[in-house]
Amino acid sequence: MLHSRIESRLREAVLAVVPDADPSAVQVRPASDAKLGDYQSSVVMGLAKPRGLNPRALAADVVARLDVGEWCEAVEVAGPGFLNFRLSASAIESALAGAVAAPVPFVEPARPRRTVVIDFSSPNVAKPMHIGHVRSTVLGDALARTLRLLGHEVVTDNHIGDWGTQFGMLLLGWKTRLDPAALARDPIAELERIYKAVNAACDADPAVRGAAKAELVRLQGGDADNLGIWREMIRLSQSQFDAIYGRLGVTFDHTLGESFYNPWLAQVVADMAARGIARDSEGAMAVFSRGDVAPKDDPFKIQRDGAWHDMPLLVQKSDGGFNYATTDLATLDYRIRTWSPTDILYVTDGRQQGHFRQVFAAFQAWKPEAAAATRLHHVWFGSILGEDGKPFKTRSGDTVRLGEVLDEAEERAWAVVREKRPDLPEAVQREIARVVGVGAVKYQDLLPNRQSDYVFSWDKMLALQGNTSPYLQYQYTRAAKVVRDGGWTPAAGAGIRVGTPEERALARHLLNFGLVLAAVAEEARPNYLCNYLYELAGWSSRFYEACPVLRSEEPLRSSRLALCHLTARVLKAGLECLGIGVSEQM
Ligand code: ARG
Repeated sequence: MLHSRIESRLREAVLAVVPDADPSAVQVRPASDAKLGDYQSSVVMGLAKPRGLNPRALAADVVARLDVGEWCEAVEVAGPGFLNFRLSASAIESALAGAVAAPVPFVEPARPRRTVVIDFSSPNVAKPMHIGHVRSTVLGDALARTLRLLGHEVVTDNHIGDWGTQFGMLLLGWKTRLDPAALARDPIAELERIYKAVNAACDADPAVRGAAKAELVRLQGGDADNLGIWREMIRLSQSQFDAIYGRLGVTFDHTLGESFYNPWLAQVVADMAARGIARDSEGAMAVFSRGDVAPKDDPFKIQRDGAWHDMPLLVQKSDGGFNYATTDLATLDYRIRTWSPTDILYVTDGRQQGHFRQVFAAFQAWKPEAAAATRLHHVWFGSILGEDGKPFKTRSGDTVRLGEVLDEAEERAWAVVREKRPDLPEAVQREIARVVGVGAVKYQDLLPNRQSDYVFSWDKMLALQGNTSPYLQYQYTRAAKVVRDGGWTPAAGAGIRVGTPEERALARHLLNFGLVLAAVAEEARPNYLCNYLYELAGWSSRFYEACPVLRSEEPLRSSRLALCHLTARVLKAGLECLGIGVSEQM
C-alpha cells in the first residue's frame, strides 16, 4: 500500500536525522483536509519538543533525507512542523490498477499477525435473547470479521450462561409447574414463565426457596434426573439462539458455556489461596486489594462517604459455591493455555466494567507470566433506548426480543421494497427486504460510538437517505449495476486515469480502506468503518454527478467503470466486515 511505503520511507529519514527516535512514533495519517495534501505526519513536532529543537528546522532536515519521489509530488512543511504529502496521479493510478487484481482491494495482511479470542453474544440459557444481546452479537461479529479480513487469527467463543443458582428454580419449576403444550409451542417463553413463577413463590414462601435450593444441590451433585432436565433446557435454548444466529449470519468457533469450566473451579480457588491471592473473608474466599496502586486505579477499592473501602472480588461463597467471577478466571486460564492468544476481547455492556477490571487484575496477580503475554480488553457498550429516552421496552413494558425486532425490520423493509419495486416477484422482494431489514438493525447498532447509548428508531434505521445501511446497500447496487451495464470486467485490464477532481477525490478515499480497517481492529470501533463507507458513498455520488461513465468515450469509459468496480467492491467488503449483506438489485 502507498501509505505504508511512505510511512517506512519517513521512518528511515527520521532515524537518519534522529537516531534515537522511537520508530513506532513515526506515523503517517490521511490528511484531514484535502487542500493540505493526501497524507500528513506530525512526528517531527513530537521529536523536536523534548530535544529542544526547532520543529520547522528539524522537519526541513527530515525532508532533505526523505525519498518519496516515486509516489509523491511534493512534501511540504506546514505550520509548526507538519509534513504534508501529496500523491502523484501516476502513483494513485497504479495503486488502483493493483487493487483491481487484489483479492481484497486496498487491504494488505496485517503484521504482526495477532491471535485474538473474542468472547461475545454469550446469552443465558432459559432466557430469551433480548435486544441488549444484539449489541454484543453484532459488535463482536463485526470485530471478528474485520480482524479476519486483515489476516489475523480469530477464535470466537460464545460463553453462554448455562450454570448458576437460577437452575434450582428452573428445575423446581420444570418438575412442579411445567405446561408441556406451552413448552412445545414456545420453549423459551415457558422456561421464562416457570422461572418467574418459582421466583415469586420463593419470595412468598421459604419452603419453596428451600426446595429450589435442594434441586440445585442435586444438580451440582450430579443427580442424573436433574442433569437430564438441565441438558434439555440448554438444548431448547441453544436451538433458539441458533435460529437467531442463522438470521444474523453469525457463527462461532466454540460455544464453551460457563458449565464447561466447572471441573476446574475448586482448583482455581485452591491455587489462588495457596499463592496468597485469595483469602478467607467471613467464611467466603475473596481477592482483596494488594495496595500496590493508587486507590482510584484500584479495582478492589471503592469510594464511599469520602473514604476508600475494600471491594473484594468473591471467588467462593460461604456455602462453598462458586460464582461468575470464578468461572471467568478459569475461562481465562483455559483460553490462554489453549490458544496462546495475543489478545482477548470481551464484548459486553458497560455495567460489567467493574467485574472485568477485577477479573483482569485478579488474574494478573494469580498468573503473571500468562497475563503478560496476552492483552485483555473489555470492549464495552452502552444501552439501547426507546424514543422516550428510557431503556427500550415493548408497549407492555416487556423486554424486546431480538427475533421480533428482526421480524418487524424485515416486514417494514418489505413494505418499502414493494412500493419501490412492484415489478419484482414477491420472493425476490422478500429476499431484498431480508438483507435490508437485518442490515438496518445491525448498522443502527454499529454506527454510534459504542460507549454511548442510542435511541432505537425504525424510521431512522430504514431511511434510504443519510448514514444508514439501506443507503449504503443502495450505493453498492448502483455502482455494481453501472459496471454490469457497461459490460466491464477486470479482464478488460485496468487502465485507470484520475483526471478530474471528483475522480481523484474518490480514488484518494478508496486508498484508505485498509487503514480504516486497521483502526477498527486497533480500537474495537466499527463506527469508524461506518463513517468511512458513508463518506465513500458521498464521494462516489459526486463522481457520478460530475463524470459521465457509460456515455464517455474509450479509454475514459473503461477507466471510470474500473473506478465504479472498485467502489462497489470496497462498499461490499466494508459492509461484509459489519456483517451486512448486499443485493444486486434494490
Ligand atoms: N452471560 C453474560 C450476560 O448475559 C455475559 C457473559 C460475558 N462473558 C464473560 N466471559 N463473562 O450478561
